[in-house]
Amino acid sequence: MSAGKIAFAITGASGALYAVRTLSELLARGVHVELVVSDYGKRLLRDELGDEASTEKLLPYLAAKYGVKVNEGLLTVHSNRDLGATIASGSHNCSAMAIVPCSMKTLAGIAHGLSRNLVERAADVMLKEQRRLVIVPRETPMSLPALRNMVLCAEAGAMVVPAMPAFYQLPRSLDDLADFMAGKILSALGFEHDLYPAWTGQVGS
Ligand SMILES: Cc1cc2nc3c(=O)[nH]c(=O)nc-3n(C[C@H](O)[C@H](O)[C@H](O)COP(=O)(O)O)c2cc1C
Repeated sequence: MSAGKIAFAITGASGALYAVRTLSELLARGVHVELVVSDYGKRLLRDELGDEASTEKLLPYLAAKYGVKVNEGLLTVHSNRDLGATIASGSHNCSAMAIVPCSMKTLAGIAHGLSRNLVERAADVMLKEQRRLVIVPRETPMSLPALRNMVLCAEAGAMVVPAMPAFYQLPRSLDDLADFMAGKILSALGFEHDLYPAWTGQVGS
């Protein structure tokens, strides 16, 4: 049985590790991921993870880092300039979309329904079709326009999941922090996972 299709965007906010961890988990579940990476998202992948994580080499990078199970899914990469791509239409059966990480610029474009590129258009499709849109913003401190734009997105039906990993799971590595955020994003998309233990009421138990 197909695990369905998910639209996934990577934009130019810090936190490429969250994106690749979440992507690996979706693909390992057999999901068809329809990926779009903005120009600054491409730069972020290279700057934060190295040339081997560039968009063209992403699947081998994921397999090397997270295991060959990622090959159970399908990764389709769309150009951010292609407003005729499948995910630009509400008639295409993508059940949800995640933007990981989401820059304040893309957040603003979504909040105001601008649809200037495929990331913004696909997000607008999710809102108009009342499907799950998960936005993972990253900036600090946050300007008043950015805060207002998050409220606008939430009012329009998006789920705002800020890139704010927790420390009560006693993370030992950057990968532990990425697991926490990827788990939060998977939960928001409706997937079960075991990327962090459920809270038991006590730290470290
Ligand atoms: C190394 C680097 C880190 C950045 N980090 C952030 C960030 O954390 N949050 C943010 O909103 N913008 C950040 N930016 C700025 C965005 O990349 C920039 O506003 C860009 O135009 C966003 O375009 P996009 O949303 O189409 O990717 C960063 C840029 C660079 C080069």
